[in-house]
Amino acid sequence: MSEYYAYHGLCLCPRGGTLPAGAEPVARCFTPLLYLVSRDPLTHGALRPLSGPEALDAPEDWRCLLPEESAVPTPGCYSLNTAFPRALSLAASRLAPKRSGLRLTLVGLGDVGGQLLTALKLLGNEIAEIGIYDPNEALVERYLLELNQVLDRPEPRIVRRDPARLFDCDLFLFTASRGVPPIGAAGDVRMLQFEKNREMLLAYSRQARGADYRGLFCQISDPVDLLARSVFLQSNQDEAGRFDFRGLLPEQIVGFGLGVMKARADFMAARMGVHYPRLRAYGPHGAGLVIANDPLEYDEARSLELTRQTVGANMEVRALGFKPYIAPAISSACISILQLIRGEVFHGAIPMGGVYFGCRSRADGGFAPCAEVLHPALQARLQAAWEALREEEAKWPV
Ligand SMILES: NC(=O)c1ccc[n+]([C@@H]2O[C@H](COP(=O)([O-])OP(=O)(O)OC[C@H]3O[C@@H](n4cnc5c(N)ncnc54)[C@H](O)[C@@H]3O)[C@@H](O)[C@H]2O)c1
Repeated sequence: MSEYYAYHGLCLCPRGGTLPAGAEPVARCFTPLLYLVSRDPLTHGALRPLSGPEALDAPEDWRCLLPEESAVPTPGCYSLNTAFPRALSLAASRLAPKRSGLRLTLVGLGDVGGQLLTALKLLGNEIAEIGIYDPNEALVERYLLELNQVLDRPEPRIVRRDPARLFDCDLFLFTASRGVPPIGAAGDVRMLQFEKNREMLLAYSRQARGADYRGLFCQISDPVDLLARSVFLQSNQDEAGRFDFRGLLPEQIVGFGLGVMKARADFMAARMGVHYPRLRAYGPHGAGLVIANDPLEYDEARSLELTRQTVGANMEVRALGFKPYIAPAISSACISILQLIRGEVFHGAIPMGGVYFGCRSRADGGFAPCAEVLHPALQARLQAAWEALREEEAKWPV
């Protein structure tokens, strides 16, 4: 027999997690209903939408992409992992996110950041203000001038963000890089940046922790998925480097790189003269990407060819002598972030069993991946991509 407690407008039901002081017993459950669990924070989420209580023990890995077999969906049900000391205090705001008058911070005003800022200025109707920061002061000045001179578009206002107050915002967007490899460089341009960008992110992850940041950290610079995980690990250690999980919850971080891969795959299919209305993109934004012509009517040969063409799409632009950043800034970042804000399905890398894995999902407290029936051969590819990401992740010191 379950016991229910009321706590600041939430209904809590202990299932191995710690009940907070001040929770009052109630006779009947109500929503939002949070099942309190205690799980390893390195491999489990903090706040997860559940199809129902029977999903509490469902695996937290690539299988989140599959529908629960037995579940009768119960809206308003979540699991909350009390091994994260901040999870409960953040739950109420994460369950009812602000959808208008938003304040954003954008760090990094290079090619991607500048393009993203322009797109948000034009499309971000729910954004009141974007505070910008880049160590290159001329770039900050340029965008303050240019993007506050857009006809009939006073909002979002573009303002200078004090570097000491970067996390005074609802969403923090990170597009900075310590150096994108030049056109013609050998290797995966995303992975070549990992070590330097990880080092650069450390100061920001620590600042987010120090500020008790309650908003969303949107990681856009490369390699998106691995850096999203780095932000989580870096922000959750104390001064002595011990994990205390008092930093960002896994669900406060999202990697935005998959949107452009979906757009490129649609483009490649159209160029081959076919249209796949249920085309899907999953996994890392680069090597390891999985494109499927259809989740159920999956055709392996066509899907592998589409994947190959999609991964190589940026090289076509580079071969013309240009860095490909326009479609990425608009598709991976601007449109995908706005879809998340609006509560729509978006493409992004969300926490999934200790890695950030790209898929379609919806923000609902935590993230609810769009689970659907998948062809067995596609399942095998997704499992391999998820495991490869986990192995890659394990190679790097925390
Ligand atoms: N997510 C995606 O879909 C996607 C697609 C394309 C590129 N990218 C990535 O986006 C990143 C940015 O690419 P870009 O072409 O704009 O690079 P860029 O070199 O044009 O700009 C990088 C910016 O970062 C700033 N910067 C450097 N160190 C900083 C620091 N410590 N703090 C704050 N800002 C700092 C620089 O001043 C510069 O303005 C790269 O990692 C790139 O690979 C992502």
